[in-house]
Amino acid sequence: TERTLILVKPDGVARGLVGEVVGRLEAKGLRLVAAELRTLPRETAEQHYAEHSEKPFFGSLVDFITGGPLLALVAEGPRAIEAFRALAGATDPVKAAPGTIRGDFALEVQNNIVHGSDSPESAAREIGLFFPSL
Ligand code: GTP
Ligand code: MG
Repeated sequence: TERTLILVKPDGVARGLVGEVVGRLEAKGLRLVAAELRTLPRETAEQHYAEHSEKPFFGSLVDFITGGPLLALVAEGPRAIEAFRALAGATDPVKAAPGTIRGDFALEVQNNIVHGSDSPESAAREIGLFFPSL
């Protein structure tokens, strides 16, 4: 079994899509291990997205992810990382397949509803950042 960090980003919370996202991951068979609604401090957001610190959109991304409450989740199951990335769909919601979370609910690349860890190394780092007691 494997664990992954999932975020329902502030746009998803504001649009009332928490139930939709949690419903889909539970229906898939992933099991919730931790869940907390919180507004990120800038420092945590900058650490979470450190790999993008040199990108032109970094400041905008940090503004967005700290701009309201998000739902942080840890889910587990066989190949949980890849399983949730498949449910989420491509980063650009216009390219994301219909039937995926981003494909069904988003239009803009930044405001794409969810985050999911992209590797076991990222998952370990991100779970440690969001839920240090796990
Ligand atoms: P995450 O699960 O959130 O990490 O998304 P991802 O792994 O599918 O994409 P990536 O790590 O490349 O980018 C992180 C986040 O930055 C994306 O989910 C978007 O919210 C945002 N983002 C990515 N590319 C762009 C861009 O070109 N412009 C803007 N404004 N935001 C972007
Ligand atoms: Mg990413």
